[in-house]
Amino acid sequence: MRAARAVAHTNIALIKYWGKRPGDPDQNLPAVGSLSLTLERLRSETTVRPGERDSFQLDGHSDPAAAAKVARHLDRVWRSANPGPRPPCAVDSTNHLPTAAGLASSASGFAALTLAAAAAFELDLDRGALSALARRGSGSAARSLWGGFVRLGRGERADGADCRARPLFPADHWDLRLLVVHTAKGPKPIGSTDGMQRSADTSPYYPAWVATSEADLERGERALADRDLAALGAVMEHSCFKMHACMLATVPPLIYWNGTTLAAIHEVWAARRAGLEAYVTSDAGPHVKVLCRPDLAAELAARLAAVPGVHAVDTLAPGPDARVELLP
Ligand code: DP6
Repeated sequence: MRAARAVAHTNIALIKYWGKRPGDPDQNLPAVGSLSLTLERLRSETTVRPGERDSFQLDGHSDPAAAAKVARHLDRVWRSANPGPRPPCAVDSTNHLPTAAGLASSASGFAALTLAAAAAFELDLDRGALSALARRGSGSAARSLWGGFVRLGRGERADGADCRARPLFPADHWDLRLLVVHTAKGPKPIGSTDGMQRSADTSPYYPAWVATSEADLERGERALADRDLAALGAVMEHSCFKMHACMLATVPPLIYWNGTTLAAIHEVWAARRAGLEAYVTSDAGPHVKVLCRPDLAAELAARLAAVPGVHAVDTLAPGPDARVELLP
């Protein structure tokens, strides 16, 4: 075993993933495909070294619950190529995420951990295989192996081998901006994994959500190929609001938004009516993400920062591939 350090950037789904298909829960198989944009700056940096026993530090602190998840994921990576016992690992991770807390870090976190662990264990895996492994840590992590625009296929196989992301277009394909509008501080009440399960079990809209997702993916990919912002924005908003409709119809309801979330969405639509072309999306949390051209980003960010309740607005360009290096 060696020591290795990996850096992976977070991503935001333009066409959403919500729900798992039946199968081994440890495979974490998504019910629908998804299409994402990897972001610059927002990233996890993870070092995996040989240790005397397993240890995990996140931003300099230990967290037993997170450490157990990390150990389970190290086991997956190790067992993908080795029958015997895994060597103990010292894992250190730093999240470079925005000042206002509450943005998901599992995508960049599991992508960086997968890449660093595979290098540390000296495994010869291609990015696709690494993406399938990262998916088992968190579905969205499968997409963070690449920069730019990435598609995660739903896959069909029970062993998940065909459920891996692939890069559609590199970061420089289309110079867009994603504004992250922070509307709350602190962690979200219900994590994605539990929320998805609840939606699948109780939301009458869940089957419709799953049935209509493939068409959205096709429309999204075509809009990206054509660099057609109006087409991409329309299908991105549709995917987002369908997912939230499915969440709202879950029992008990999953309402991830607050009043400021809705105010920010209305502000984007008001700006659009006034000629500032921009489109919204939001995930399993209260923040609003806004897609626009670079030349409109500053004006839109200023308008959104002025919405009462908005804490901060970050402006982000498309980000790079995840990378890894062996350490001496
Ligand atoms: C709403 O990838 O966090 O952000 O696979 O259970 O870890 P698990 O879920 P996760 O879910 C992301 C859900 C989403 C939409 C998306 O990113 O596609």
